[in-house]
Amino acid sequence: MNHRKNSHLSVSVVLLAVLLVGVVFYNEDVKSLTQFPFSRIQPRENPLPESNIAAGDSGNSITTTSEFDETIEFPPDSCDIFDGNWVFDDSTHPLYKEDECVFLTNQVTCLRNGRQDSMYQNWRWQPKDCDLPKFRAKLLIEKLKNKRLMFVGDSLNRNQWESMVCLIQSVADSSRKRLIKTGSLSIFRIEDYNATVEFYWAPFLVESNSDDPDMHSILDRIIMPESITKHGQNWKNVDYLVFNTYIWWMNTKKMKILKGWFDEGATEYEEVDRPVAYARVLKTWADWVDQNINPNRTMVFFNSMSPLHIRSSDWNNLDGIKCAKETTPILNTTTPFVGTDRRLFTVATNIIQSMKFPAHFLNITTLSEYRKDAHTSIYTIRQGKLLTDEQKANPAIYADCIHWCLPGLPDTWNEFLYARIVSHS
Ligand SMILES: *[C@@H]1O[C@H](CO)[C@@H](O)[C@H](O)[C@H]1NC(C)=O
Ligand SMILES: *[C@@H]1O[C@H](CO)[C@@H](O)[C@H](O)[C@H]1NC(C)=O
Ligand SMILES: *[C@@H]1O[C@H](CO)[C@@H](O)[C@H](O)[C@H]1NC(C)=O
Ligand SMILES: *[C@@H]1O[C@H](CO)[C@@H](O)[C@H](O)[C@H]1NC(C)=O
Repeated sequence: MNHRKNSHLSVSVVLLAVLLVGVVFYNEDVKSLTQFPFSRIQPRENPLPESNIAAGDSGNSITTTSEFDETIEFPPDSCDIFDGNWVFDDSTHPLYKEDECVFLTNQVTCLRNGRQDSMYQNWRWQPKDCDLPKFRAKLLIEKLKNKRLMFVGDSLNRNQWESMVCLIQSVADSSRKRLIKTGSLSIFRIEDYNATVEFYWAPFLVESNSDDPDMHSILDRIIMPESITKHGQNWKNVDYLVFNTYIWWMNTKKMKILKGWFDEGATEYEEVDRPVAYARVLKTWADWVDQNINPNRTMVFFNSMSPLHIRSSDWNNLDGIKCAKETTPILNTTTPFVGTDRRLFTVATNIIQSMKFPAHFLNITTLSEYRKDAHTSIYTIRQGKLLTDEQKANPAIYADCIHWCLPGLPDTWNEFLYARIVSHS
């Protein structure tokens, strides 16, 4: 009798904990959305000299001469740039300074928000069999001339979009660049190159009840796994597309799938195991890309999952509080990290391999799993406001171990994108 009571009690405790985690996720999504400094941006001047850019083929790798007449070598497609290790390198990283990029939202400006250690900005990814090319904003913007680069997905892709804006914004002076938000789309435009770096909010890629860019924090998330055209029409005529979807899948073990259409007022749903629903969604996405995107014009990338560090036991730190006490990456890589739903990774690799379209899989999961030190943690905002000292003192509840500080890890994801975009002829 007593025993049963206890197990009921512990079930309720677990339920409460799950609910709390849900509320935290949910709030994180609200807070991040309220944070675009669209109207109050006063970019500083930071022009670079004009340059002559000459690109040529040299065997397997591509060599490019930049404004400083130095040769930049791009890794051949055959090199697995995702297999390697983190190297401390404060002479080349960070690639920009936190206070030099006015486009950073206060969700990610960890130093300004009170973080004392800054080593998280100094790690460079070193592939085992080749080198990542030196990042040159000028080379990338030449490639983006008269073109559109668009990130599509959830707040992690928005995190990466913010990073890309900061990586590239120095090529234009203040009056020649701007950030505009219209509905689901945020557009950073560089006038002199007629180039845009855009973010489109679609956390599940397919239609869902969480698609409103501002009011999307719905506890009971419901998706329509076969409906993508409503979003997809906004992705046509883009030259570089970068997709992701993961974090919104993690709240519940089963996904709710609508029976019918939102437009027709349907509310009934069935519940399907997470990997099964993920496969249905990615199949819809892959078919849409195959049928609607011209591979002669557009490069398509898919980002694998961005890991969460909300259980310090996942990396064997029994004294940890989520990611809050971490100041170094996992460097002993023989200890596996166990916090990611790898089933979704397998689904994604299988579907991308079966596509007609030559989509690029950005295998960022493992290398990001090592970066327990790189999250915004308590140096961030909640519901649009910086955490109070009281909240900061309670990391078990308030630390955000999902999103990443900038400068930081998402810059490395963009280094991979840069390597592929600039070397592509
Ligand atoms: C992804 O990269 C990791 C190393 O970072 C490697 O172990 C794994 O095999 C890669 N997976 C794929 C599908 O390329
Ligand atoms: C500017 O870029 C857009 C889209 O990237 C393109 O459609 C348009 O033709 C470009 N304008 C000029 C003048 O090249
Ligand atoms: C892409 O280019 C190839 C070679 O030029 C051509 O055969 C093919 O029809 C083009 N595909 C599309 C969809 O335009
Ligand atoms: C790395 O981790 C493994 C497994 O936990 C352990 O046996 C090994 O001693 C560690 N290596 C170093 C250099 O700490």
